[in-house]
Amino acid sequence: MALSESSRPRGSILVTGSNRGLGLGWVEAYARLGWRVFATCRDPDSADVLQQLAETEDNVSLHRLDVTSGAQLRQLQRELTDRPIDVLINNAGVYFERWGQDPVGSIDFEAWDETLRTNVLGPMRVSEALLPNVAASTQRLIVTITSHMGSIADITSPRDYAYRSSKAALNAAMVGLSHEVKPQGVGVLLLHPGWVRTRMGGDSAPITVEKSLTGMRTLVDTFNLEQSGQFLRFDGSAMPW
Ligand SMILES: NC(=O)c1ccc[n+]([C@@H]2O[C@H](COP(=O)([O-])OP(=O)(O)OC[C@H]3O[C@@H](n4cnc5c(N)ncnc54)[C@H](OP(=O)(O)O)[C@@H]3O)[C@@H](O)[C@H]2O)c1
Repeated sequence: MALSESSRPRGSILVTGSNRGLGLGWVEAYARLGWRVFATCRDPDSADVLQQLAETEDNVSLHRLDVTSGAQLRQLQRELTDRPIDVLINNAGVYFERWGQDPVGSIDFEAWDETLRTNVLGPMRVSEALLPNVAASTQRLIVTITSHMGSIADITSPRDYAYRSSKAALNAAMVGLSHEVKPQGVGVLLLHPGWVRTRMGGDSAPITVEKSLTGMRTLVDTFNLEQSGQFLRFDGSAMPW
């Protein structure tokens, strides 16, 4: 018999880039369920919604983390010493429309470099640093928010070199990580959230944060280690590589 939401065991979750969009959706959903939520973002001072949540809810705390910063990650490690993290959500990511428009001849390689540092090295840096916290938890799951644009099989149009290559590289790195951490009982799941109405997804995106989150939370709830390394849409269907 399936457990109702309120009777499911509560754990702890850490979310990167959680001040808006999907990241904020993860924080709000798990805070409501009574989980211990470590909400991280680049600029806590301007994260009004997170600040209010952290002030009013005992189970939510706010932490500074730019995923490209080794120094901030070391500080976070100190703040979270001996704190288990059941579910680590690598959510932070960048995509700038302009970069998508750059044809060969005018590619902004510095912007591409920043995309790779944020979208690929960032989640790997965070996963490596917080692996002991995840391994010490009950659920032991690393979820990485990738994109259908990281699917090489899906590339049927030009451009978007930076974002596409970043998510494809992220997928490759995370599958490798899944093999490395499986002996510790830690799982890795790659999720495409759908085309979602956020600042990144834009106003014409057909899917709400709530709908995407409902789907992804079901995948987190029902995850078992045999699924580790899979690349799934928010509705659970398999993504082509
Ligand atoms: N929306 C979609 O349709 C869609 C589709 C496929 C995949 N995704 C993926 O879903 C994830 C969330 O996207 P979203 O739609 O919620 O986008 P969003 O509204 O633009 O939010 C992106 C978040 O990432 C944070 N961020 C960017 N660089 C960071 C860094 N160096 N360190 C820490 N945080 C950083 C941003 O923080 P600041 O506020 O400080 O900039 C913001 O909180 C991303 O990985 C994205 O690639 C989204």
